Amino acid sequence: MLVELLYCSVSVAPHLTNEDLNQILASARRRNLAEDITGMLIYHQGEFVQILEGRKKSVENIYEKFIDSDLRHTRINKEQENTISHRSFNECSMGFVGAPEIESLMPSSGMGILMNMLTDEAKSKPLSLGLSAFVSIYNQMRKSPNR
Ligand SMILES: Cc1cc2nc3c(=O)[nH]c(=O)nc-3n(C[C@H](O)[C@H](O)[C@H](O)COP(=O)(O)O)c2cc1C
Repeated sequence: MLVELLYCSVSVAPHLTNEDLNQILASARRRNLAEDITGMLIYHQGEFVQILEGRKKSVENIYEKFIDSDLRHTRINKEQENTISHRSFNECSMGFVGAPEIESLMPSSGMGILMNMLTDEAKSKPLSLGLSAFVSIYNQMRKSPNR
C-alpha cells in the first residue's frame, strides 16, 4: 500500500548553512533511494516542511527511526498520513527547495519548480491531499518570505 506523509518541524540551529542542508539531504537521499521513497523537503528561515511517499512500511520506518529522532530538528508535527493511489514525485529520492526559490520574485520559482518534479500521472490528476497542503504551505512562504 502506498502512502504520503507530511510533517513540519523547526531546526534546532536558527540558520542552517548549505553545508548543513547538504549533509541532511545526502544521507536522506541515500536511504530513500534504497527504500524507494520519493518526496520533497522545504527549508526556509528555520522551518522544515517535508512530504514523503512510498510503501507504508518504508515511509513509517524512515519517519520513526531516522526523521523523528534526528536531533537537528524539533517540534516535529505529523500533519497528514494518507493512502495514495499513485506517486506525485518522480525519480528524485528527495527534492529540495530553499530560500533562493522561496524568496525569488521570478514566477518560474513558483509552482513551476514543484510541477516540474511531479510524475505525469500526478500532473494529469487532482493533487493528493498531502501535496495540496504542501503546495499551500510553499505558496504562503513565497507570499510572506520576511525579506
Ligand atoms: C529535516 C530532516 C529531513 C530528513 N529527511 C530524511 C529522509 O527523507 N529520509 C531519511 O532516511 N532520513 C531523513 N532525515 C534523517 C537524516 O538525514 C539521516 O538519515 C539520519 O540522520 C541518519 O543518517 P546516517 O545513518 O547516514 O548517519 C532527515 C533529517 C532531517 C533533520
